[in-house]
Amino acid sequence: MTSPIERSLVLVKPDAVRRGLLGEIISRFEVKGLAIEAMELRTMDAALADQHYADHVDKAFYPPLKEFMTSGPLVALVLSGDQVIEVVRAMIGATDGRKAAAGTIRGDLSLSNRENLVHASDSPQSAARELALWFPKL
Ligand code: CMP
Repeated sequence: MTSPIERSLVLVKPDAVRRGLLGEIISRFEVKGLAIEAMELRTMDAALADQHYADHVDKAFYPPLKEFMTSGPLVALVLSGDQVIEVVRAMIGATDGRKAAAGTIRGDLSLSNRENLVHASDSPQSAARELALWFPKL
């Protein structure tokens, strides 16, 4: 029996767009063999930030995170592939770019735990919630 192909919601964050790292980051997903099912350049507004980060809105780091995430365009992607959620989380590395392993996107390209270039769904449940929020028609 074949299992259905999994999907993940990935955001290439405003710091990556500003730093000209879109090509580098999207290329890593492409060469890994993941499929891009949807891709959109858009700016997150305050309401979407509160919904997307519903688990974090009460945390001390949320106000500056919200300001950062709404500060300019980002690229929202739907990626699919075998175990894509786990695969992409491994590819992006630990939250804090200073601690993320070399070879990961954050480990190679970020020195921050806020401006960490990429967000990716961390479980099938969060993927379903985030995909419905960002790409309701998909
Ligand atoms: P992300 O994967 O988008 O999920 C939550 C985000 O909050 C995280 O990436 C970081 O951008 C940010 N974040 C998490 N922990 C901290 C922290 N301790 N300080 C600042 N930002 C954080």
